[in-house]
Amino acid sequence: MRAITIVPGTAGSLRLDADFPEPPHREGAVLVEALALGICGTDHEIIEGRYGEAQPGSDVLVLGHESLGRVLEDPTGTLRPGDLVAGIVRHADPLPCPNCAVGEWDMCRNDRYTEHGIKGLPGFGRDRWRIEPSCAVRLDPSLARIGVLLEPASVVAKAWEHIERIGRRAAWDPRTVLVTGAGPIGLLAALLAAQRSLDVHVLDLVTEGPKPALVQALGGSYHAGTVADLDFEPDIVIECTGAPSVVLDAMCRAGNNGIVCLTGVSSGGRSIDFDAGALNRALVLENNVVFGSVNANRRHWQLAAEALARADPEWLSSLITRRVPVDRYEEAFAASGGEIKVVLEFAS
Ligand code: BGC
Repeated sequence: MRAITIVPGTAGSLRLDADFPEPPHREGAVLVEALALGICGTDHEIIEGRYGEAQPGSDVLVLGHESLGRVLEDPTGTLRPGDLVAGIVRHADPLPCPNCAVGEWDMCRNDRYTEHGIKGLPGFGRDRWRIEPSCAVRLDPSLARIGVLLEPASVVAKAWEHIERIGRRAAWDPRTVLVTGAGPIGLLAALLAAQRSLDVHVLDLVTEGPKPALVQALGGSYHAGTVADLDFEPDIVIECTGAPSVVLDAMCRAGNNGIVCLTGVSSGGRSIDFDAGALNRALVLENNVVFGSVNANRRHWQLAAEALARADPEWLSSLITRRVPVDRYEEAFAASGGEIKVVLEFAS
């Protein structure tokens, strides 16, 4: 069968192996036929050799953590053949740490967790994959075209859950949300904000392409420019660019009792001139919280599935700006401006 592989740490090692072995039973009872695979910034980092870890005993890593597939067989009877499923990305560490022990692998304390297609577990970028039933999330059949968005939506559902938990530290009646970055994470964060009837603002660099209209379709306002140009102080900021200057501006812009959730992973290695004392003063005097959020546990995947089922399917479908057959995988991984989500298609 076909599999998209890389050699971790080796830039330029991306290839489509036409003769990759079938997934062994030890990978899980449920056999799944791949339908689609989403591509994100983490995949690009892995391809560039800056991130990623092969499965033990192998030099290669099967790429891909944003999955959508159809169940071929599940001898445990939990899922039925034909069910639409996505695979949960992260697995608890083997110790496990106190968080992994209670199913909060997204909050792993010792970094010994594994992640499909990223860290020590084969990815979903192959014709067939296996998973344990407890790690598969069933999707409504109506989500066949856009179910591949479930993984990024799970990351956003976790961010929102934690924002709301932090908000409960005192009386809190948020009205305004600023999302920085109108990529898939930013737009899905804006969708979940709109579903909460908040006043949604999305900031991005581009003025062309589908992004402004997608934000307006949510009833939100689209801003092209810098955070400093905005004339309001949001109650909630969800930062999705990872661009250092945007991150700092976002932290400074939140209003009193503001909550700033950082979801973008910066590459690091560049320094900028910044008045850390002024930021500290603003955070303390305004009771602001800045926190990071990564990955998602099963509860968040479930919340994400519900959020996608409630959303306009046409709107969700517009987030997928390119669908590429897996045999033309190189095109899918080539950078091109103005895109939102590129998806590889396995089956027709
Ligand atoms: C994935 C997360 C993962 C993170 C770090 C992101 O792209 O969506 O599930 O935890 O990368 O590896």
